[in-house]
Amino acid sequence: MPARPTVDSVWPVTPRSGPRSRAEWAQLNREIENCRACPLGSLRTQVVIHRGSLRPRVLFVGEAPGASEDKVGIPFVGAAGKRLDLLIQQLGLLESEFAIVNVIKCHPPGNQFSEVAAEACRPFLARQVEFLQPIMVVTLGAPALAAFRPDLLPILGSAGRRFRWRGLALFPLVHPASAARSNAFRRRWEQDGAALSRLLSRLGAGGRTATGPTSEATV
Ligand code: URA
Repeated sequence: MPARPTVDSVWPVTPRSGPRSRAEWAQLNREIENCRACPLGSLRTQVVIHRGSLRPRVLFVGEAPGASEDKVGIPFVGAAGKRLDLLIQQLGLLESEFAIVNVIKCHPPGNQFSEVAAEACRPFLARQVEFLQPIMVVTLGAPALAAFRPDLLPILGSAGRRFRWRGLALFPLVHPASAARSNAFRRRWEQDGAALSRLLSRLGAGGRTATGPTSEATV
């Protein structure tokens, strides 16, 4: 069986030279905004790119924008976002310490995850992770986990534990929307969130001020 494509297959091949600049981030955002590589590009209201810090310690990666996100152009602003925001608050992460992106950047009708769209968006996700340089990626739901480590599926076998991806910590969680659909998933969301909280405390990531240079030119 051919290997399932992941972010690794499109990871930027050119080694980074020089600091990350706002111009580089703006250029990436422009490319995402102008993308029409799959049918979702002409169906969306707004492209949904990123929320939070440009120097995050923890990067949350969701599946795809829902209808609320499509309206405002910001990830996780709907019901699932409220649950995620509560977790982020419980983790003690400051605004400067986390960011949120999605595997797919445009709202798929009916919230049906689209492999075609994931394929088209994959280089953008790779460049976002490469630019943001978190110490940990927290995947939300099975398609987000599959974008990095499909070998860790099914998600219930790996959610709530720490793994590695390209030298970063990778921590899968079930999707916050699934926690609203069943008590079993809600318990799993809460238990695994508590495990993430303990891990972040050990790593010294929660509730601390981010460090590093921030100027007009560099982020
Ligand atoms: N679900 C996601 O996976 N992403 C969002 O941005 C909103 C809901």
